[in-house]
Amino acid sequence: MRIFSGIQPTGVLHLGNYFGAVKQWVELQTPENFCIYCIVDYHALTNEDTVPEVLRKNRVELALDLLACGIDPERSILFVQSAVPEHTELCWILGCVTSFGDLTRMTQFKQKAKDQEFVNGGLFYYPVLQAADILLYLADHVPVGEDQLQHLELARRIARRFNWRFGEFFPEPEPILGKAPRLMSLADPSRKMSKSYGPDHYIGLMEPEEEIWRKVRTAVTDMGLTPGQEMSPGVANLFTLLELVAPAEVVEEFRQAHAAGKLLYKDLKETLFRYLMEALRPIRERRRELEEKGEVEEILAAGAEKARRIAREVLGEVRARVGLD
Ligand code: AMP
Ligand code: TRP
Repeated sequence: MRIFSGIQPTGVLHLGNYFGAVKQWVELQTPENFCIYCIVDYHALTNEDTVPEVLRKNRVELALDLLACGIDPERSILFVQSAVPEHTELCWILGCVTSFGDLTRMTQFKQKAKDQEFVNGGLFYYPVLQAADILLYLADHVPVGEDQLQHLELARRIARRFNWRFGEFFPEPEPILGKAPRLMSLADPSRKMSKSYGPDHYIGLMEPEEEIWRKVRTAVTDMGLTPGQEMSPGVANLFTLLELVAPAEVVEEFRQAHAAGKLLYKDLKETLFRYLMEALRPIRERRRELEEKGEVEEILAAGAEKARRIAREVLGEVRARVGLD
């Protein structure tokens, strides 16, 4: 498989990003796959709050986080999007085979546009740039969380329309969903875990331990203790997390206690916290080591060089096909 995925440098990597996407990125790094992972800083510019110095810093921080999670520059290409300006050129060309109607139907755009006063054009064009990211490397598989499925469907439509107009060239990229395609907020389990709703709505991988415990401890549950009672969304979300970090026997034991109406949520939270910290510990330690080593800039530069070689070749072919060369 030829794998591509991207993530925005918006500050912190949280459990939704990790279990929804990045863990798959790491696991897909096998000899049969060709993996390309991208820190999408052009996309981050669509966020009105993005400040220049912070963007520069966040790219490096995110690269460190990704390396700590297990992205291996020997087996994958890791790079920053804007170091390969071919992304924007392909974006323009693909925009000319994208349906305006399709763009107006993107739920992420509608949601974001609704929440703010000034809606920039980049926000509207965001999914075209995302399609360009993927197609520029002729990727056929894209590991993402559930919230990206509509964008991927659009990328396939764009590929199809390009191929129809200019001859078969781009593969139609398929999503790869992980075990937790939609992790919910612990403070409000009706919304997905996300940075957009404020710090109580996500758990960062590198947050202080006390802060993680506070967020787990105060997670929304329900009144509980009725045998056979259906799980509320908050409790179900805690079980989803427990399944990701604890052995199957432990999860089973808690499930039975819940079914019997004997589960104390305090025990569930304490156990979840313990296994979660165990799962995060190696990542957090590696993060500190990588920070001290200070090789991240070189890793990104080498990644950009490799990515650019592919991008130039594919874009050259595209330019010729559409009649620009
Ligand atoms: P973003 O931080 O929006 O750039 O997202 C990076 C990746 O994490 C994307 O593949 C998202 O689909 C995934 N992701 C973000 N939030 C969640 C969540 N709450 N549950 C599962 N996956 C998520
Ligand atoms: N839109 C994605 C997100 O917010 C990030 C992204 C940009 C992406 N380009 C991509 C994901 C290409 C997969 C493939 O999560």
